[in-house]
Amino acid sequence: MRDYWYKRAVFYELYIRGFQDSNGDGMGDIPGMTSRLEYLKRLGIDCIWLLPMYPSPGHDDGYDIMDFKSINPEFGTLTDFQLFLDKAHMLGIRVIADLVLNHTSNTHPWFLEAKKGPSSPYHDYFVWSDNPDKYANVPIIFQKSETSNWAWCHECGKYYWHRFFTHQPDLNYDNPKVREEMLGIVRFWLDKGLDGFRMDAVPYLYEREGTLCEGLPETHEFLKTIRRLIDESYPDAVLIAEANQWPEDLRQYFGDGDELHMAFNFPLMPRLFMAIRQEHHGPVVDIIRRTPELPENCQWAMFLRNHDELTLAMCTDEERDYMFKEYAKDPQMKLYSGIRRRLYPLLEKDIGKVQLLNAVLFTIPGSPVIYYGDEIGMGDNIYMGDRDGVRTPMHWDDNRNAGFSSCNPSKLYAPVITDPDFSYTSANVQVEELIPSSILNWMKRLIHLRRLFPSFSNGKLRFIFAENKKILSYFVEYDGERMLCVFNMASSSQPLNIDLSEFAGCRPVEVFGGAEFPPIGELPYQLALGPYGFYLFELCG
Ligand code: GLC
Ligand code: CA
Repeated sequence: MRDYWYKRAVFYELYIRGFQDSNGDGMGDIPGMTSRLEYLKRLGIDCIWLLPMYPSPGHDDGYDIMDFKSINPEFGTLTDFQLFLDKAHMLGIRVIADLVLNHTSNTHPWFLEAKKGPSSPYHDYFVWSDNPDKYANVPIIFQKSETSNWAWCHECGKYYWHRFFTHQPDLNYDNPKVREEMLGIVRFWLDKGLDGFRMDAVPYLYEREGTLCEGLPETHEFLKTIRRLIDESYPDAVLIAEANQWPEDLRQYFGDGDELHMAFNFPLMPRLFMAIRQEHHGPVVDIIRRTPELPENCQWAMFLRNHDELTLAMCTDEERDYMFKEYAKDPQMKLYSGIRRRLYPLLEKDIGKVQLLNAVLFTIPGSPVIYYGDEIGMGDNIYMGDRDGVRTPMHWDDNRNAGFSSCNPSKLYAPVITDPDFSYTSANVQVEELIPSSILNWMKRLIHLRRLFPSFSNGKLRFIFAENKKILSYFVEYDGERMLCVFNMASSSQPLNIDLSEFAGCRPVEVFGGAEFPPIGELPYQLALGPYGFYLFELCG
């Protein structure tokens, strides 16, 4: 069995603007983040995922790109980036970055040229139409901001296609020049030493009449072309799909292990929040049973939160209503078909629930992705626009601006969180590193444990169905190692009887503390779990 680094890795999603300001202009930058690499080393993560670092007018926080082969001057220079990459590698940390294939900013020179009309060599880089009725069935993603996927271009006298904001024209993948440009961009960054990409919005590359224009065969074909380039020239790099789709559709982005290495598990994420609220293992069990097996060289990317709203796109209407009712009591918390809140506020600052969900996330086979700030229990600001309230400055200490910047507080790109419940004066790296029982130190232990037991990254999962539906329990097994994971999804203490007779004679050892539990016999094994309690056991002997 081959060891694939990305299957073992813990990822850390990092927002450059919000991480560390080095020059006092109120905005995080690359030298700032370089100076914080030792912190990430101490945390124990293996790979950083950088949100877009490219020049951009910033109408979609950098997902609107003006130049794919350069660095946003607000963040630094290409030299700063190279220094960052080299230092990360020296510390044994890999780095991947967002790659936005689907669209550019409307200020990208390609689009400025394309607008001039069909005589421009760049006109065909984008998708144009004389009328806005083409592809009529295609859903609008940013419902609250957009009314059509077509926008009128006055200069060109035609409509252009955009799946996201109006200012993000979609590239035309039917044009071989576009495909070549994008392959060139992939090479450009991997030649600099980048370790791969989080591939933004991959389902939407091609459009065809009469379809939803999502995940078309042509799109998969181009993704496979990128993969061939990776396998030939950069065999250690990883590609992670952002495709907000149902399990059957998601499965296609892996191909036969010849397309993308990883994909975010969008369907599982909201169901973890449902299960803990309903105090029932059902939502998690159902979706995992519906999730197809992956080829051996592939892996799920597992997450609880990210830089976007907690998306409920992969929910039924009923499930969505339930999630809104339980997790977005204030209408300010809703955005698009999701909820713009961070992990801690969502879980009502209950450390038991936070530990429980993270423990599930880190033990179901897949590679976890931590969203910056969630490891210290940062709060959010639901009164900021769009998704900005989950992108506020990282809390480093209890000094001015939470140690993020030396600037005048009014100059910060976004205010630090000062709500009494989540204030940076207590929820910060410096304070939490000193408190043994802090969530930060607990996350460090969890990351360490995942590394000790390869079952958590490579294992096969088998559910155990006990009578008590409030308990989620499963085995994960790999290469002779057997782990038993038991979670109480309820706010009250629960008894559990499970049939473990196939392991009669084994001794369960709890992995956080090392305590040995009574040996397993032929009779049902009995356990008691406190509110939101859980056990991770290695079955020894
Ligand atoms: C992805 C990003 C999101 C962005 C969108 C358009 O979904 O996660 O932040 O707005 O793509 O690029
Ligand atoms: Ca700065």
